[in-house]
Amino acid sequence: MNILAIESSCDETSAAVLSNGKIYSNVVATQLIHTQYGGVVPELASRAHQQHILPVVDKALSDAKVTKKDLHAIAFTKGPGLLGALLVGTSFAKSMALGLGLPLIEVNHMQAHVLAHFIQDPKPEFPFLCLTVSGGHTQIVKINSPLDMEIIGQTRDDAVGEAFDKTAKLLDLPYPGGPLIDKYAKTGNPLAYTFPLPEMPELDFSFSGIKTSFMYFLQKQLKENPNFIQENIADICASIQYTLVNILLKKLKKAAKETGIKEIAIAGGVSANSGLRSSLLELGEKLGWKVYIPEFEYCTDNAAMIAMAAHYKYLENDFCDQTVSPMARMEF
Ligand code: KG4
Ligand code: ZN
Repeated sequence: MNILAIESSCDETSAAVLSNGKIYSNVVATQLIHTQYGGVVPELASRAHQQHILPVVDKALSDAKVTKKDLHAIAFTKGPGLLGALLVGTSFAKSMALGLGLPLIEVNHMQAHVLAHFIQDPKPEFPFLCLTVSGGHTQIVKINSPLDMEIIGQTRDDAVGEAFDKTAKLLDLPYPGGPLIDKYAKTGNPLAYTFPLPEMPELDFSFSGIKTSFMYFLQKQLKENPNFIQENIADICASIQYTLVNILLKKLKKAAKETGIKEIAIAGGVSANSGLRSSLLELGEKLGWKVYIPEFEYCTDNAAMIAMAAHYKYLENDFCDQTVSPMARMEF
């Protein structure tokens, strides 16, 4: 059973082929055009998807050594994401399914981030908790089975990836700044500067306050020393990363305590963060958790995770028809 999956929700055009539950190819074309604008420009993202989608799909098929005739279903990201970007992948998938007479499978991008854990071993056991952290979302998800999951906590304003990217922008670092904060943080002192932690009820998060307090902190420091950023970049990045990771882990700890679940996973672009990965492993050891962290390749946006989600939907005969449209906002 061969599924071709297409991902185009943000600034990565990706295609993957899955056969009988195993990934055989995962091709990702990252759009570099956005760097000069300091963030993803939706119209440019759509145009870049149009340019990349055909070669990316062709390479995914040839890497997996399958032809279009060998396919049994076409899967695509329906949402959430940038509408224009999603439209490219959705239209492409619909046309291909129509032309080849194949069933179509719609996939929720955030559920797919969680299901990326089933691409490789070891796989989490049900029920497990997943902290899904990306540029657009911050969620704690309880997963009862591959297609039965519920969001038990989430951000009420910015996503944590956004907080990484926006603080990086204030430091004049290029987009996306998250990986650069991570890089500089490696040699800095995480306790050099402290920022107030938000007080949020239950399992919810807030990241807009930290961005504002960081902005005021920088303004004050720059007034006293115009070279403050250049002279202290490592300590600044380490401190901001330490604060953001702390906010995430505090709520994850609370979720594990309340649900009694000790199978804990992380997913999404920010799960590539080395500070989050090492602090989670440390905390897990202390609290007796089994911690699951995906390979870097499957943390950031990729079509392999879309194919994995589609695999479970295929087994349940969960198909959609040609009237399907992408959705910028999409619940589980
Ligand atoms: O999941 P993803 O690739 O795309 C979305 O669905 O949003 O996540 C992208 C986000 C960006 O905010 C990026 O800065 C962040 O993930 N990110 C990181 C790291 N690698 C990617 N943030 C902190 N540390 C990293 N190493
Ligand atoms: Zn994502």
